[in-house]
Amino acid sequence: MGYFITFEGVEGCGKTTQIRLLSELMSRRGMHTVLTREPGGCPIADKIRTILLDAENRALSPLAELMLYAAARAQHVTEIISPALEEGKIVLCDRFCDATLAYQSFGRGIDRAVIDTLNLHACQGVSPDLTVLVDCDPRIGLERARRRIEATSGPREERFELEELAFHQRVRAGYRQLAADQPDRFLVIDGAGSIEDIFAAISRQVLVRIPESLRAVR
Ligand code: TMP
Repeated sequence: MGYFITFEGVEGCGKTTQIRLLSELMSRRGMHTVLTREPGGCPIADKIRTILLDAENRALSPLAELMLYAAARAQHVTEIISPALEEGKIVLCDRFCDATLAYQSFGRGIDRAVIDTLNLHACQGVSPDLTVLVDCDPRIGLERARRRIEATSGPREERFELEELAFHQRVRAGYRQLAADQPDRFLVIDGAGSIEDIFAAISRQVLVRIPESLRAVR
């Protein structure tokens, strides 16, 4: 069996940069890694991502949104995550089931029991061994995310960036609550520092947790 690491945090917290840096470092050290993301990670789930993040879909109901995230996850786990873990790879996933609790339960207010049930089915027995929460003030994160969206051509993936600040503050509080409830699985990293300092903290604390048998040599 491989090792499953997820990265979480509010919009613009820097997790996507950090997970890419970690994946590059692990590959350089000869570890067999798969870098993927949610929603998305495979062609069918990528199509669902387009619906979920399209700013024109503001009328998407919270329940329809939740089920689309679960559908994308079920496909992604089946096609990408489970096979990679069975092959003994280290899977690095940019967001996973905690995002659904943080955004759809703490953020939108959907009953947690409904989300737990959907996650249970969508994840098909797969659960993160380690979750890195890049904790960041949403005011700073949203500013960064907006600058990124303005600088990017193509579809504007900003349905969530357009949510009010209070929504993102609930999401942040939700993530912190989840981390406090499961301190063994979560690694909480302060996202306020420089990219280099944050990466130094993440790589130092993540690499020691990788099982010896997967820490390839080179
Ligand atoms: P990204 O910006 O990290 O690519 O994530 C896409 C957006 O989807 C982000 O605003 C968080 C949101 N999201 C949820 O609301 N629920 C989920 O289950 C996942 C995976 C993401």
